[in-house]
Amino acid sequence: MKKLSYSEVRQLFLDFMKDRGHAIVPSAPIVPEDDPTMLFVAAGMVPLVPYLMGEPHPEGSRIADSQRCLRTVDIDEVGNTTHCTAFEMLGNWSLNDYFKKEAIEMTVEFYTKNLGISIDHIYASVFGGDEKAPRDEVSISVWKEVFKAHGIDAKVGPGQRIQLYIDKCWWELDAGGPCGPCSEFFYDTGKEPCGPDCHINCDCRKFIELGNNVFMEYLKKDSTYSPLGRHNVDFGGGLERCVMLSQQKNSYFETDIYKPIFDRVGSLATTANLTSQRIVTDHIKAATWIVLDGVVPGRTERGYVLRRLIRRAVRHARQLGIEKPFTRQVGEVAITQFGTIYPQLIERKDHILQIIEEEELKFQKTLAGGLKKFESLLTQKGKLTGEDAFYLYETYGFPVEITQELLAERGVTLDIQEFESAFASHQELSRTAAKGFFKGGLADTSDMSKRYHTATHLLHEALRRVLGDGIRQKGSNINPERLRFDFSFDRRMTEDEIAEVETIVNEQIQNALPVTVTEMLTDKALELVPEAMFAEKYGDKVNVYSIGDPDKPFSREICRGPHVGNTSELGTFKITKQENVGSGVKRIKAVLS
Ligand code: ALA
Repeated sequence: MKKLSYSEVRQLFLDFMKDRGHAIVPSAPIVPEDDPTMLFVAAGMVPLVPYLMGEPHPEGSRIADSQRCLRTVDIDEVGNTTHCTAFEMLGNWSLNDYFKKEAIEMTVEFYTKNLGISIDHIYASVFGGDEKAPRDEVSISVWKEVFKAHGIDAKVGPGQRIQLYIDKCWWELDAGGPCGPCSEFFYDTGKEPCGPDCHINCDCRKFIELGNNVFMEYLKKDSTYSPLGRHNVDFGGGLERCVMLSQQKNSYFETDIYKPIFDRVGSLATTANLTSQRIVTDHIKAATWIVLDGVVPGRTERGYVLRRLIRRAVRHARQLGIEKPFTRQVGEVAITQFGTIYPQLIERKDHILQIIEEEELKFQKTLAGGLKKFESLLTQKGKLTGEDAFYLYETYGFPVEITQELLAERGVTLDIQEFESAFASHQELSRTAAKGFFKGGLADTSDMSKRYHTATHLLHEALRRVLGDGIRQKGSNINPERLRFDFSFDRRMTEDEIAEVETIVNEQIQNALPVTVTEMLTDKALELVPEAMFAEKYGDKVNVYSIGDPDKPFSREICRGPHVGNTSELGTFKITKQENVGSGVKRIKAVLS
C-alpha cells in the first residue's frame, strides 16, 4: 500500500469520486442541524437523509464528502489502539443513480488502484437474507467478478473471500429511516487466525473493516420495513483506519492525524501511561469539534457528552502527572492540526479554547472537593468500600488508582473487585449518559419509555423461564421506539424459543397484571432477587418492582423505575432482532405496538 499523509488520502478519495461524476460537498457540522432527536452525526449519511428519502439534492444524484462524525457508545474503549470518538468518514452516495455493481467496483478500484492495497488482502461480507430481504445475490456475483478480474476464484462461505452475515450486514440508524442490506470489505492483516471459527468480523482483529456499501432500498418506520421506491447507495469508509494502514502504524495515535496532539500531551506528562495519553488526545480533539458546532458543557444531552469528555481528559491528565491546566495547550495543537481542513476551527479558536478551559478549571475545583470527601469517608469508617471508591470516581472524577494510593499511605487496602463490580454495573448507565439521556437513571419518563421499561422486566423473566436461570442481564437501553436487552447466553436462540418468549410476555400483558413497588433494605431485597448482582450500587435501600400478585409475582426486580401501573397498558410485544455482541453476550431488540 502507498504511504500517504491523511490529507492525501482524503484528497485522493474526493478527487476519485469527482472524476466519477460526484459533487464534492463540505462536511456538515457534527451536531445535526435540524434534528433535536439525534445528538451527534454518527455516520456520514446522517446529513443526507432527506435526499436518500427522495428530496432532490441541489448538487445532483452523486455526492461525496469526508464527514466529521462522533460516536460515544464505545467511549470506554478509547485508549486502545483503534478507538476514537471523533473521526472522519469518507462517503459517496448514489441518490437513485448507480447501484450495487458500480458501487462495489468503484470502492475496490479506489482502495486497490489509488491507495495501492493488494487485492490479496481484501475480503468481503454480504447480506445472507432474512425476513426483511433476500440474500444479496447481486453483490455476491459482483464481488466474484471483481475478484476474478484480479485472478482470484472467490468462494462464498465461512473462511472464504466472501462471507455471509445477517445482522452485521443490515445497516440502519436506531431512529429508523432509509436502510438496507450492506456489503463491507476488510483488510486481512496477515495475522494467524485466532481459531478454526475466525471470521472477517471476528473480535481478534485479524481483519480490519475498511468500508461499507449500504444499498438503501428500504425505509424503516415504527419498526416496520417497507420499500423506499428508490435504490440509493451509502458508502462509508473510516479515514483513520485507512491512514493507519497506509502509514503502517499499529495505532491511530501514531499516524499523522493524531501524532502532534499525542506528542504535545506526552511533552506535558511526567509519568508514562499510554492509555491515558491516548484518551487525553482523543477527548480534547473531540471537545474542540463539538464546541466548534455551538455546544457548551452542561447537564444534559450534547452538553453532558461534552462535559464528560473534558472531565475524563482532566482525570487522565492527572494519571499522566499533569497537575496544571493543560487543555488550552493541547486544544491549540488539535485546532492547528485540523484547521487546515476545517478553517472554522481557527476562526473560533479563542471561543473554543476558553469554553474547554473553563470546564477544566471548574472540574479541578471538584477534584479538590473529592479529596475532602475522601478524608471524611475514611475518618468516618476507617476504610473505604468499593462503592465509596466508585462514588469518588464518578462524582469527583477520582481515579481509583489515586484512591488506592491514598489508602495505601494509611495502610488501608481497597477491595478492587468490589469497585469493579460497582463500575461495571454503572457502565450501561454511563453509556446511556453518553447518548445523552442521563438524569439520575432514566431521564426520559415519557409514557412510551415507561412501557418499554416494564416490558423489559417481562422479557427478562420470560428469557429466564425459556433459557434457564443461568442467563444474566448485561445491559439494557430504552428509547421511545424500542427496547434493547443484552444478556449472557452462549448460542443463538431458536425461532421456537423466540416465539415462546414472545408468547409468555404477551400472556402477562393480557392478564393485566398490576405493577407494584416496595422500598426495602438492600439485604432483604437481595434475598428476594438473588440474581440482582449489582444491587449495591443503589445504597442501603432499594425499590423492588413486582409484576403480578405481590406475594407470588411473575417478575421481581430491583430497579429505579419508572414503570406503568398495569401490564395491560403495554400493547403487543414483538422481538424484532437478535444479535451477537461478542463474548457470549446476546442482544435482543423488541417493540411494543
Ligand atoms: N452508513 C454506513 C456506515 O456507517 C456506511 O457503516
